[in-house]
Amino acid sequence: MKILIINGPNLNLLGKREPDIYGKMSLEEINKKVTKEANLLETEVSFLQSNHEGDIVEQIQKADGVYDGIIINPAAFTHTSVAVKDAIAAVSVPVVEVHLSNIHAREEFRQKSITAGSAKGVITGFGWYSYILGLEALRSILLK
Ligand code: DQA
Repeated sequence: MKILIINGPNLNLLGKREPDIYGKMSLEEINKKVTKEANLLETEVSFLQSNHEGDIVEQIQKADGVYDGIIINPAAFTHTSVAVKDAIAAVSVPVVEVHLSNIHAREEFRQKSITAGSAKGVITGFGWYSYILGLEALRSILLK
């Protein structure tokens, strides 16, 4: 099973960026934890991060037929991007949306996810562990 994990804008700054909200772990450290868990589950994971909306749209499109599923943290694009939402809807691979923080407990503009309606489901608020839960969720969909 091959899974692509996509991280959106500013998530390359994890560890330094608002650690009270997003935690002290860098994206690289999170990716290591996810890889370790994926290895235990005999699952192959690939990672990419982009600060650009168009890149993310293209990567979602390219993943179709190459990966079995996608985990995405669209970051700020969660709340703004019809293009990312449409890309998720356009591909046949299942997509699970994850967030480090609980977007429902934050500012009003973060409480609405534009992208979520095209995803299979959303995991939000468990810090770096949201990615592990996302992996479990995607596997349960794929193994059904
Ligand atoms: C985030 C929440 C978003 O509102 C924010 O723009 C992010 C990160 C999260 O993982 O908690 O960049 O997606």
